[in-house]
Amino acid sequence: MSSSIHLFSVNPLLKPTNFSHSRYSIPQNRQFSAPSACLNVDVRAPDSDSSKPALSEKASRAIEIMEEEKRVLVGTYARAPVVLSSGNGCKLYDIEGREYLDLSSGIAVNALGHADPDWLRAVTLQANTLTHVSNIYYSVPQVELAKRLVASSFADRVFFTNSGTEANEAAIKFARKFQRSSHSNKEQPPVEFIAFSNCFHGRTMGALALTSKEHYRSPFEPVMPGVTFLEYGDIQAATKLIHTGKIAAVFVEPIQGEGGIYSATKEFLEALRTACDTAGALLVFDEVQCGLGRTGYLWAHEAYGIYPDMMTLAKPLAGGLPIGAVLACERIAGTVNFGDHGSTFAGSPLVCSAAIAVLDKISDPGFLASVSKKGQYFKELLVKKLGGNPHVKEVRGFGLIIGIELDVSASPLVDACRQSGLLVLTAGKGNVVRIVPPLIISQEELDTAARILLDCLPLLDESS
Ligand SMILES: Cc1ncc(COP(=O)(O)O)c(C=O)c1O
Repeated sequence: MSSSIHLFSVNPLLKPTNFSHSRYSIPQNRQFSAPSACLNVDVRAPDSDSSKPALSEKASRAIEIMEEEKRVLVGTYARAPVVLSSGNGCKLYDIEGREYLDLSSGIAVNALGHADPDWLRAVTLQANTLTHVSNIYYSVPQVELAKRLVASSFADRVFFTNSGTEANEAAIKFARKFQRSSHSNKEQPPVEFIAFSNCFHGRTMGALALTSKEHYRSPFEPVMPGVTFLEYGDIQAATKLIHTGKIAAVFVEPIQGEGGIYSATKEFLEALRTACDTAGALLVFDEVQCGLGRTGYLWAHEAYGIYPDMMTLAKPLAGGLPIGAVLACERIAGTVNFGDHGSTFAGSPLVCSAAIAVLDKISDPGFLASVSKKGQYFKELLVKKLGGNPHVKEVRGFGLIIGIELDVSASPLVDACRQSGLLVLTAGKGNVVRIVPPLIISQEELDTAARILLDCLPLLDESS
């Protein structure tokens, strides 16, 4: 018996007012186990009871895909048991035709939602013209995108990568190169780094070394040495360590996403800026998740009025195509020479054309103002609707990056929401519901999301 999967049956997006978790109805032809509390898909065969009607062709296909995935893909992902097949705006559809309201955005990627017409136009036009040339040659979209990023930020120059972890990897190298160039041959340049509790900077060996969760690092040690983790917000400890002169760069997320939606204080970022300036260390803001309009500011650090020496970007920049970027000041970029770093794919005409379409839309002041407004509305709504539940400890974040901290695991709630047609994520130590919707989401869709969350919340009493 080896294949059965957790599927579900109720989608209150279709019948929102009738939903109640206790009324989940599993159709007779689906004898599946209850949804797992974590996202580890436990694949077992449907009960082979010949008295039960056969699964529909599409349901069988979904099971087949999940079983095949298990056989042919390296098992790094604890996927939710849903096979998605299309999307439009904030809606996603699975291969059985069920509709989901997407407040996960492919982990904060699909800022313009799915199939945005301007994005689609840019991508199809460019794909019809020129997709990839490598960085041996010049191409127009790469330079145009870099010009826009420079014009809209503190930075003087841009280096493109294919992902967030690669952007951080590049920033690590640039920090080391800058420090080596700034110190005479006789001096030992500062080569160490500071990162903070609950931070996430990526999975490749350098970025992994900067990622606080030991569980991610320990199977792969030794990672890059010379990283000290300090408490996020601990001004004294950070200032003291930066002042030793050993630190090449401090990596910090102005708002921690994976870590549980924790926002830095202005005092903390200000203190890091001052200490780095005094000691000659670089300040790197990782805005892979919180940047590009998610907070209602184009760059999250604009909310604080504190500026970095380098900033890393990725997730939403190309609206779903793989991209990352390091934005750097001239004094750093000027120390990086031919051959110091590179990438075959990064900055391709296709990806950069997509990113231009995204950036042009997101950087519009009216668009950013709408993100702030919707974020404030949704946070207040969540506080009003969910705040009275004893399991809800805090609703935090700003703009459209919001965390609901629970006193129990968030997975049962996330699973129940998904079964009810709402996609949200977990974060932190698994006790935070992370909400990072497409930035184009409507107020009505936010109302629906809040209602589903509220309806599913009683489930926590059963699971705790
Ligand atoms: C703040 C932050 N930095 C870096 C990364 C790594 O990005 P990627 O998964 O594109 O490598 C992530 C991914 O979640 C992130 O949230």
